[in-house]
Amino acid sequence: GVAAFTSKNGFLYCENEMIQDIIEKERMNRCFYLYSKPQLTRNYQNYEQALDGLNSIIGYAIKANNNYKILKHFAKVGSGAVLVSGLELELALKAGFDPTRCVFNGNGKLPEELIFAVRKGVLVNIDSEFDLEHIVKAGAVTGVKAKVLLRINPDVDPQVHPYVATGNKTSKFGIRNEKLEWFLDEIKKHSNEVELVGVHCHLGSTITKVNIFKDAALVMLQYIGAIRSKGFNLQYLNIGGGLGIDYQHSGAVLPTPTDLVDTVREIVKANDLTLILEPGRSLVGNTAAFVSQVIGVKSNGNKNFIVINGSMSELIRPSLYGAYQHIELVTPPPVGAEVHVFDVVGPVCESADFLGKDRELPTPKDGSWLVVHDAGAYCMAMASTYNLRMRPAEYWVTEDGSVAKIRHAETLADHLRHFEGL
Ligand code: LLP
Repeated sequence: GVAAFTSKNGFLYCENEMIQDIIEKERMNRCFYLYSKPQLTRNYQNYEQALDGLNSIIGYAIKANNNYKILKHFAKVGSGAVLVSGLELELALKAGFDPTRCVFNGNGKLPEELIFAVRKGVLVNIDSEFDLEHIVKAGAVTGVKAKVLLRINPDVDPQVHPYVATGNKTSKFGIRNEKLEWFLDEIKKHSNEVELVGVHCHLGSTITKVNIFKDAALVMLQYIGAIRSKGFNLQYLNIGGGLGIDYQHSGAVLPTPTDLVDTVREIVKANDLTLILEPGRSLVGNTAAFVSQVIGVKSNGNKNFIVINGSMSELIRPSLYGAYQHIELVTPPPVGAEVHVFDVVGPVCESADFLGKDRELPTPKDGSWLVVHDAGAYCMAMASTYNLRMRPAEYWVTEDGSVAKIRHAETLADHLRHFEGL
């Protein structure tokens, strides 16, 4: 496919725009995120094409990136949304998502959040006994019958980092499967307040073996059969999100949305189901780079460091999960620059503050810039202000090659605002 970020003669481009030019034109003096708007569209279209011929909902998991401009863009191209908090739901509706193509997920949904979701006609996943109780109440309070899916734990090992595996036995998510009968009875009892319309599972994130989705769908199919035989009119199979992306940049070919959908296509068709997908990372991950300036290069004994003005505060995945995100210089290195093995680190006062470990890179010039690739998912969304590093600006390159700011950098004034009047 077409890549958003490409290197030509040592110069890195976002679409057709040279990143160094963008840095100079916009007078960048802090780290920032740079997105490709066309890549957002291409990623969405990949899912649309993959789902061709099936009844489906693409629910963008907005936890991956909640930039308002990006949300509006996905809403405009027709995406649904997957929400995990009341404010995510509120923001998604403001951004223009159709509530009937939205799914509200989570193991700790609040009663007032559920009332809001049910009133808006959003699909709600049941995660536990108390969750169902709150959904029933929301149905009663609003007078709107809640459309619900049962989140079932398929107990399939997604073969990923334990922090992002969610569909195995020890996970906090989903109903205890041996309690299925209880849930069905309870739902029947409250048929004025809730209507069971589907089943849901989510296996985990960064999945690179799509046959796992088929394993899960087959497990879900047994539940669907059992539930339908009790007289419920199930429509939706929600197979969650989790498709991985190419963080390694090693040339290996990873499965596409089409590969994913094709593993479950027959199951969905043969059983007259509407397929719901909840992609986050695979819609936004490769659409952005995190761009930072080199403050200086230093060496401590055998260890070499490139110290940049970006840090774990803006991008925590390497620190938190030991995640690999590819790092590349924005401009060619100085002539004769020595190649070394570097840790790429930020200014934050702790040793967990690294963006990359043991990276073979040409020694960059002080003041030059580099990128951390695949920074569109769970990067800005997980940014903090640790060390009073206020969150950075975001920009995108649009279809016509113009560069637009899509979020302001936060400032000290933003911080101080929280203390006004105290
Ligand atoms: N649906 C549910 C119920 C989820 O819990 C998640 C992600 C998704 C969909 C979207 O998954 P995706 O397609 O993005 O893999 N912060 C971690 C990832 C946490 C994922 C949490 N759940 C990271 O930076 O890798």
